[in-house]
Amino acid sequence: MLHAIIMAGGSGTRFWPASRRDTPKQMLSLVGDETMIRQTAQRLGDVVPPERRMVVTNQRLVAEVAKQLPELAAAAIVGEPCKRDTAPCIGLAALLVTQARKDPDGVMIVMPADHVIASPEVFQTAVKQAEALVNADPSRIVTFGIKPTYPAEIFGYIQRDKPLADACGDAPAFQVARFREKPDAATAAEFLASGDYYWNSGIFCWRASTILDALRERQPETLAHLEKIVDAWDTPDGPAVFEKEFAAIDGVSIDYAVMEHATNVAVIEAPFEWDDLGGWQSLPRRLGVDDAGNTIVGKHLGLKTTGSIVRSTPDHLVVTLGCEDLIVVHTPNATLVANKHDEESIRKIVKELEGLG
Ligand code: GDD
Ligand code: MG
Repeated sequence: MLHAIIMAGGSGTRFWPASRRDTPKQMLSLVGDETMIRQTAQRLGDVVPPERRMVVTNQRLVAEVAKQLPELAAAAIVGEPCKRDTAPCIGLAALLVTQARKDPDGVMIVMPADHVIASPEVFQTAVKQAEALVNADPSRIVTFGIKPTYPAEIFGYIQRDKPLADACGDAPAFQVARFREKPDAATAAEFLASGDYYWNSGIFCWRASTILDALRERQPETLAHLEKIVDAWDTPDGPAVFEKEFAAIDGVSIDYAVMEHATNVAVIEAPFEWDDLGGWQSLPRRLGVDDAGNTIVGKHLGLKTTGSIVRSTPDHLVVTLGCEDLIVVHTPNATLVANKHDEESIRKIVKELEGLG
């Protein structure tokens, strides 16, 4: 059976001050009326019903996830006691599928909660194709590739090889020659020029047992900690074991831990429009710009304002006069005014603020 795992434990610091520790970007409505995590869940439609969905997030976000996704049972929202990146998150979910959900042959569709995907119907067709590819070869790992448009250093890259004989659907599907996580700028430029690399969308499909075998080989200590956690899962000691064993894990992403070393990998050329919402600069891409090149959300009045991104609330007026290339974000207790080209520094500011407690 197909289980959907939504990974929602990231912090999204570049969307500060809208994104906060207790309401990170996946809990916000940045594009459209629904929050990112709700859009992610709704994207599944009937392909994976709510009882076979699972959200893995941080402990302190569990209540907010429950509020936003009331269709989920409490057991389907897993709260990690600390952040250890995506490999432990995925390993834990895979163990819960095989053991707590008693589905040893279960297939997982793993989805980040920080993407915009334009058409859910096309996404659902692609998920069915991925599941069919896994069913056709149970040790196969299926990825979704996005045609790259610039030499991004913030994505993984997937080099395609021969077309798959068993494409199992309409979208072109290939064997993967190699997977490279976040290359430097020069390597990314080479990949882009070669024409046979995709960006990794961050969405994966595999049998739970396949990813557990891979983690057993590449991250045996992590898997051992996770197994102790799941062995104690429904016992009175469960929460304490979770807390202790999870903290002892070394954090690493699934991309570095498994994907860069995996051999039987396929890539489906994603038939859906995909965008990663990394920071404020991605809003103009999704929401468009007005005649002066501004992207405005909320109440705003501008004179001689160009190329700027302004986000306020419906009842708080932001006025900009003679502003060029600014990011202005108003929230009830913090306001950001930044040069648009200095977005990366927002991370540093957030670190400093965390230092202030
Ligand atoms: N539960 C949990 N625990 N979720 C996490 C954790 C964690 O410790 N860390 C991150 N996540 C969630 C994030 O909320 C996000 O939805 C997803 O996992 C991916 O994590 P990111 O931190 O956003 O990864 P990335 O964007 O740097 O890179 C990944 O995604 C790119 C596409 O957006 C990689 O898979 C790249 O290869 C890929 O190109
Ligand atoms: Mg991301």
